[in-house]
Amino acid sequence: MGLPDHSPIGIFDSGVGGLSVLKAIRCLLPAESILYVADQGHVPYGPRSLEEVRSFSMEITRFLLAQGAKIIVVACNAASAASLQMLRASFPAVQFVGMEPAVKPAAEQTVTGVVGVLATPATFQGALYASVVERFARGVTLLQNTCPGLVAQIEAGALDGVETRYILASALKPMLAQNIDTVVLGCTHYPFVIPVIQEIAGSDVRVIDPAPAVARQAERLLRATKQLQSGDARGSMQFYTTGKVAGFSNLLPQLLGEEGEVKSLSWVNGKLTQKLA
Ligand code: DGL
Repeated sequence: MGLPDHSPIGIFDSGVGGLSVLKAIRCLLPAESILYVADQGHVPYGPRSLEEVRSFSMEITRFLLAQGAKIIVVACNAASAASLQMLRASFPAVQFVGMEPAVKPAAEQTVTGVVGVLATPATFQGALYASVVERFARGVTLLQNTCPGLVAQIEAGALDGVETRYILASALKPMLAQNIDTVVLGCTHYPFVIPVIQEIAGSDVRVIDPAPAVARQAERLLRATKQLQSGDARGSMQFYTTGKVAGFSNLLPQLLGEEGEVKSLSWVNGKLTQKLA
């Protein structure tokens, strides 16, 4: 038995990256209410150990469930790589939707047989990526790059800045020289720089944004468990950040095209607590 359908969907990421997933969910399921946690006190997750990211994910999940979330979307590849298995084992009654780099569709669609994958170190280290490569990438050459510093640029709203362009050009040019025709975005922050990626790579290169597929998976799970919210009214959105409220609020119109209430959360001895305004 699931929670009533007016309960919110819980979504989390290390920062603003998960907003790319939220946007796709809101587009497909506008009646759903959403609770979003941005762990900006710890961003970036990519260079951290899998154990550390796992402990953050466990506590954020506990928090979202305590706020009434009916399912949890781990809108972060690094957190999915580190913790999806443990989350499912620790909360067996809860449905999780996770991220994995879209190597499968890329391998199916590539004509040159060479695919670029942009993701953070935690994602490349995790068993999830190894398993996706093992299952789907036979006969395809995968060229990987961690785009150091790109998450920080996107967190600062610098979607089109000199540094952002430099990081992306440094990652993509060697890949283009090896004839990639497809780019997989293995970090939920990166869809926000698709225009720059497309400009550098050219319009013949296909860029795969996994967010719409993740939104469809959330819809399937909600439908299967009879928790889909119906009706014409748009769902509410509540955001929480462990970083600076003003910084997150200011980025919402740019990244999401909508505003929303943002509350402050803080980490105290490994636990999340709400700060009173
Ligand atoms: N957006 C996240 C991901 O999909 C995390 C980026 C980071 O914090 O390093 O991997």
